[in-house]
Amino acid sequence: MADYAPIRVSTLRGDQKIPFDAYVHVAGKYILMCREGDSFEGDRIERLRGKKLVKMYIAAKKAQVYQDYLHENIKRAYEASNNTSLEIRTQIIHGALQAAAEDLTEDPESKALYNVALDGAKRFNKFFTAEPKSLEHLLAIKNVDFNIAHHGVIVAALSLAICQELGLVEARPMQIDAMLVGCLIHDIEHNYNNVGRSERPDLLGRAEKNIYLKHSVDGHDRIKGFIHFDPLVRDIILNHEEKIDMSGPRKRREKDLDVFMLVTATANAFDTSLTYEGQTPREALKKFLIDKMGVLQLETMHGLQNALKKRGLV
Ligand SMILES: [Fe+2]
Ligand SMILES: [Fe+2]
Repeated sequence: MADYAPIRVSTLRGDQKIPFDAYVHVAGKYILMCREGDSFEGDRIERLRGKKLVKMYIAAKKAQVYQDYLHENIKRAYEASNNTSLEIRTQIIHGALQAAAEDLTEDPESKALYNVALDGAKRFNKFFTAEPKSLEHLLAIKNVDFNIAHHGVIVAALSLAICQELGLVEARPMQIDAMLVGCLIHDIEHNYNNVGRSERPDLLGRAEKNIYLKHSVDGHDRIKGFIHFDPLVRDIILNHEEKIDMSGPRKRREKDLDVFMLVTATANAFDTSLTYEGQTPREALKKFLIDKMGVLQLETMHGLQNALKKRGLV
C-alpha cells in the first residue's frame, strides 16, 4: 500500500496528457487503468466516471509529478490563453472544485481543506464573472455517477448566477465566497448515510427516504462544532432543502429564511431535476417553473430563468 498514493479522478480533466500511470485497486491488487500519455478531454472522462470511480492510484514515487500536473492544469484553466478553449478550462475548473469538495466532505474537521475549498470558491467567483458562458459548459458536463461533489459545483455556479441577477453580488459581496463553499458541500451527509444516489429522492423506499429526509439536519449536526466553517456555510447545509410552503424538513417559511437559503434551494432543486430527468436546461426549466411555483421563492426562480436566458440556454 505504501508504494501507491491515491488521486482523485475529478482532477483528470482537460487535454493535458497525464505524466503517470493510474491504477485501480481491486481485490488487493493495483491494476493499470490509464497509461502515461492519456488525456481526458470530452467524453473520455465520462466513460471513466461511468465506472463510479472516485479515486485511482499512482506509484508513490510519482506524487510530485502528479502535483506538477495539477498545478499546470489549474494554471491553464485560470490563465485565459489562446490555446485552451473555454470548454476545456471550464472542465478543469469543475474538476478542481469537485476534488476540493470531495476532500472537505471526507474530512470536514480539516481547516486546511476548508481553506482550499474557500480559495477555490474565490477563484471560481472571479472566473465565472469574467466568463459567463462557462455556465453552458458546466451544465454540459454530465453527472454520470450521481456524484454529490459534482452536483455541489453546479449548485454553486447556478447560485452565483442567481445572485448576479438579484443584485446580491453587489449587496452582500463579502458573503458570496462563503455561499459558494456552502453549495460545494451542502449534501455532505450523503457521503455518510448510504442512501442510493442513482434513484430520484421521491422514488426511494420508505426506510431510505426517512434517512434522506434528515440529510440536511444530520449534515449540519456533523459540522456544527467546527469553528473554521463560516456560519453561512453551516446555514446552507441546514436549510438548502427548505421550501416556502413549509414542506421542507424543518418546515421553515419564506420569512424565516435568509435570501441565500432561498437562492441555494432553487439552484439545488434545479440541478436535481437536470441530473435525474436528463433534460436540457430549456426542457427542464419549463417544467420546473410550473412544478415549483409556490414551493420555491419566485424571485430566485426568475433570477435563474434570466441567468439562463442571458446565456442563450433557454
Ligand atoms: Fe440536499
Ligand atoms: Fe443537493
